[in-house]
Amino acid sequence: MSLHIGDTAPDFTAETSTGTLNFHSWIGTDWAFFFSHPGDFTPVCTTEIGRTAQLADAFAARNVKPLGLSTDTVAEHLKWIKDVDETQHTTVMFPIVADPDCRVARLYDMIHDHESTTAAVRSVFIIDPKKTIRLTMTYPMNVERNFAEILRVIDALQTDDAHGVATPADWTPGGAVIIPTSVTTDKAHQLFPNGWTETRPYLRLTVL
Ligand code: BEZ
Repeated sequence: MSLHIGDTAPDFTAETSTGTLNFHSWIGTDWAFFFSHPGDFTPVCTTEIGRTAQLADAFAARNVKPLGLSTDTVAEHLKWIKDVDETQHTTVMFPIVADPDCRVARLYDMIHDHESTTAAVRSVFIIDPKKTIRLTMTYPMNVERNFAEILRVIDALQTDDAHGVATPADWTPGGAVIIPTSVTTDKAHQLFPNGWTETRPYLRLTVL
């Protein structure tokens, strides 16, 4: 099943490294960063799970809960997490789904048969509190994710939602944002009292 931006994230109940988890209930009123990795006891994955744990405060500040997944078992996860903690100098507190039969991985289209028929690629789903998929990314097994980019896109989504704006290329928090073309000039004056720079009628940049 291929999942698109705007779809409701499929719900599931699964065993994880911290116990049984129902996905929608677990998200609750927060956001979710749901990501898969190919396998436990592998080098790139060890650094990614470690980085996610190191960024616990950064995710919490954005009301985002991380949830990992691989097609390994709970016992393997628990053994490997000790390695991650030790080698990455952190404490993994977030759950990792154990999906040895690939049930959840298939539900989220995380198994790409040209890479492997039994292990997940590096998928990312950013899911909002309404359980809507807001952003997806897919990386091959050999290529690590950039966690600064993951936090940046969460900031962009949350800024866009809060202010009804869009964000320009390479935006970072505090940078100028785009007033969408759907906002009339009269409305823009109400919404953006700081004014804006209009390079073209369709390209209006403002600072919040
Ligand atoms: C890794 O995490 O290093 C890895 C796992 C599976 C395939 C390739 C790399």
